Formats: sequence, structure tokens, C-alpha cells
Amino acid sequence: MKKYLEKHLDWQTDEIVNQYDELPLWSSVFGQLILNNFPINKYDQYLDVGCGTGFPLIDIAQRLGDKCRSIGIDSWHSAVRRAKTKIETIGTEYIQVIEADASDIPFSDNFFDLITSNLGINNFANPQKVLTEIYRVLKSGRTFCTTTNLVGTFDEFYTIFEKVLHLTGLYEKYRIKYHKHLDHRGTLESMRELLISSGFKIEREISTSYVMRFLNGSTFLNHSVIIVGFIDAWRSMLDTDDKEKFFEHLERSLNVYSEIDGELRLSIPMVYFECRK
Ligand SMILES: C[S@@+](CC[C@H](N)C(=O)[O-])C[C@H]1O[C@@H](n2cnc3c(N)ncnc32)[C@H](O)[C@@H]1O
Repeated sequence: MKKYLEKHLDWQTDEIVNQYDELPLWSSVFGQLILNNFPINKYDQYLDVGCGTGFPLIDIAQRLGDKCRSIGIDSWHSAVRRAKTKIETIGTEYIQVIEADASDIPFSDNFFDLITSNLGINNFANPQKVLTEIYRVLKSGRTFCTTTNLVGTFDEFYTIFEKVLHLTGLYEKYRIKYHKHLDHRGTLESMRELLISSGFKIEREISTSYVMRFLNGSTFLNHSVIIVGFIDAWRSMLDTDDKEKFFEHLERSLNVYSEIDGELRLSIPMVYFECRK
């Protein structure tokens, strides 16, 4: 079961975009927080930032109806193409998707009545810049809803990952890269600070978590959610010479750990923020 080590993805192919489109399995748990809580109203302009292949853009846009002009923005060319195909397919031409970098949103100040971003913040190279842009294009008194996973994501996995770095004598070599990777996810406090320093007032915050369950480490590492969304970050931490040895040890350790409970249970802390300009 070493598919996860061998499979390299070309992000510009339809194949990977189609596969990515299965990911609402991962995205939907977060998206539900937005779908269940965003303020519904008669809006003129709605924006979804980092809409990927169209989630939650297409869903929310349909809930708001065709009187509202709904726009998604994402810098990923193939995903934008896929979202456009979906919009055409379901015949919702009042929804528009724009391929652009959200750190420079191509709209004037105070333009949107509602802005959402599902699982965006951790993925933006410069989250502060994107949030400042979101603040700029949102009308005063209007709402920005966002979700993210936090530091603590897959904690059980990372505890074993770090142990294996030590056991294989690789910890010192990769310590900085490893901690940089862990720190790319914010804490509840750092997320609050990021939003407040971008000008927002946090009106509502829902912190929750969920558990993803796998039979063992082998099924976890080979799961499509991991191969599409996570494995690259873990693989690219290690030099080619160390990769095989490390992942062999990691997979074995995860499997031994899974034997204790008869399954591998991994926690995902998540938060929904509702912010007012
Ligand atoms: C984890 S995905 C979430 C996608 C979608 N919202 C969902 O819930 O499935 C993060 C998205 O942010 C996009 N992204 C990252 N940086 C961006 C930027 N600077 N401008 C626009 N989109 C960006 C990625 O291309 C990707 O589609």
C-alpha cells in the first residue's frame, strides 16, 4: 500500500480536478457550519473567496436565488474551469467564477453584501492581505463568514510522526521544516487576531471538532482525501533518500497504534467565524 508515496499529481489536469471535486467529503463538514449559520437575506452581491470547484459558492448562490449576483474567486485555473462547467451544467448563469488572486480582488470598495470563505485562510500564501481585501470589498455593516481547521488537526497522527522522526534519527535534520508545517495552521487566538487586525469585528464564533476514522495507518495514508489534500506537504518535508525509510516506519507505527483501539481516530478542531465590517 505505497500508492501515497508514488502518486504525483499534476494540478492542471482534469483528472485531479475531478478527484478534488470528491473532496466536499472534507470540505462539507466545514461548509455545513457556513450553510447552517450564514445570515440569509435579499442581497444584491455575494462573493465566495477561494471557491475551488464551486463550494460553497454554487450552493449558497442557489439558496440566495437569481436576484443576487453571486461571484466566486479562485487562483486555481483548472478548478475555476470545473466550477464554470458545473454552473453551465445546472444552468445557473447568475453565478460567475473569476480566476484571480484574492490578495487583489478585482472589485471596488464596499461592493458585496455577503462574503464567505470555506477553508481558505490556511491556504492563502498571505492571509492578512486577502483578509484586508475582503474587508475592503465588503459593504459596511455586512457579514463575512469563514471556517478553518486549526492547530491540533490530526494531533494523534503528528504525535506519531514526530516520534518516528526521532526513532529514525531524522528529527534534528527536519525539525525546522516539521514545525514550520505544523505552524501553518492557526490557533483560535491567532485566527481571532488575524481577523481583528484586518478590521473585522467578530460577532459570532463556533468552535467544534470532528473525528475521522480509518481502519489503520495504511488505509489512512492511501485514502484519497490524504493523497489529494495532505500527503504532498508531508512528503516534501523529506529528502528523497530518507522518504522510503521514514514512511515505512511511520505506516508501521500508525498500524501498531491503530491495533490498540481497533481503528485510527484522528481529531480535527474547526472554527466558524461570523465577522462584521
Ligand atoms: C482547501 S481549498 C477550499 C476550496 C473550497 N472553498 C472548498 O471548501 O472545497 C482552498 C482554496 O483556496 C484557493 N486559494 C489559495 N490561495 C488563493 C489566492 N491567493 N487567491 C484565490 N484563491 C486561493 C485554492 O486554489 C483552493 O481552491
